[in-house]
Amino acid sequence: MQNLNNTVWWVTGASSGIGKAIAQFLLRNKAKVVLSSRNEEALMKVAEDCGVDKSRYLILPIDVNKLQDIDEKVKLILDKFSRIDFLVNNAGISQRSIASETSIDVDRQIMETNFFGSVIITKAILPIMINQKSGNISAVSSVVGKFGFPLRSAYSASKHALHGFFESIRAENKQYNINVSMIIPGRINTSVSNNALTKDGSQYGKLDEGQANSISPDAAAKIIVNGIIKGKKEILVGGKELLMVHIRRWLPSFYYYLSNKVSAT
Ligand SMILES: NC(=O)c1ccc[n+]([C@@H]2O[C@H](COP(=O)([O-])OP(=O)(O)OC[C@H]3O[C@@H](n4cnc5c(N)ncnc54)[C@H](OP(=O)(O)O)[C@@H]3O)[C@@H](O)[C@H]2O)c1
Repeated sequence: MQNLNNTVWWVTGASSGIGKAIAQFLLRNKAKVVLSSRNEEALMKVAEDCGVDKSRYLILPIDVNKLQDIDEKVKLILDKFSRIDFLVNNAGISQRSIASETSIDVDRQIMETNFFGSVIITKAILPIMINQKSGNISAVSSVVGKFGFPLRSAYSASKHALHGFFESIRAENKQYNINVSMIIPGRINTSVSNNALTKDGSQYGKLDEGQANSISPDAAAKIIVNGIIKGKKEILVGGKELLMVHIRRWLPSFYYYLSNKVSAT
C-alpha cells in the first residue's frame, strides 16, 4: 500500500457497509477523511471507533438528494483541510422490484441518489481539483452497471449512467492530472439488500442469501483504496460473480444464454 499519510479523502455513504470500511481503512492508515451520509450519529461512531485524533476527520452530514447547499459543505471541507485529493462517490441505494410494477417515483429516487447525487458533488469538487492540478474522483458502480439484471431496472440504469458521466469527466480533465476510477463491486456483505427499495418505495428489509456469503466490506475496502491510489480506471471487487462482467464483454452470446436462466422474479 502506498503512503496515504495526510492525503485528504471525501467518502460519501460512510455510515455503513463499503463506505464505512473505506473510511476506517483510510483513518487507520493516516489519511484525513471527510465522512458523509444522512446519519450523523453513525458517522461519528465510525470515526471514533478508529481512535484517531479529531483533527484527522470531519463529520459532514449530507443527504445526496438534497444538495442545494453543496457549496457551503465544500467550504467546510476546505476550511478544515485546505484541499481535497480523493472523492469517493459511494452513497447509494439498491432495488428489489420488477420494472412493470415499480412506481416512477421510486425510479426517480434511485436515479437521484445514485446518479445525480454523485454528479452534483463531483461538479462542486472539480474546480478545486482543476485548481490543484491533481485529484482522483471515483464512483461506486456495480456489476449491474455493466449489464441489466432482474429486479434492478432503475438501479442498473443509475449505475450504467455513472459510467457514461465519469468516463466523460476522465476524458475532459486528464490535462489537470485528475484521474477517475470506476469501482465495480459484485457482492459485498453489507446491508445493501436490507436498505433496497421495493416497488412502492418501502424498504426490502431482508438480507439476500448471496449477500451473506460474500466478501467482507473490510476486504473490499482494501482492494478499492489500493486500486484508487494506483490510478486504476476500473476496480472489480467481489467473488465469482465478477466473471459475468468478463463473459458479457468477451462472450456475449454465452452471456445471453446464462442470463436467460436467471429467474426474472
Ligand atoms: N454491497 C454490495 O453487494 C454492492 C454491490 C454493488 C454495488 N454496491 C454499491 O456500493 C455502495 C455502498 O453500498 P453498501 O453495500 O455499503 O450498502 P449500505 O450498507 O446500505 O450503505 C449505503 C450507504 O449510502 C448512504 N446513503 C444512502 N442514501 C443516501 C442519501 N440519500 N444521502 C446520503 N447518503 C446516503 C447510507 O447512509 P445513510 O443511511 O446514513 O444516509 C450508507 O452509508 C452503493 O453505491 C451500492 O450501490 C454495493
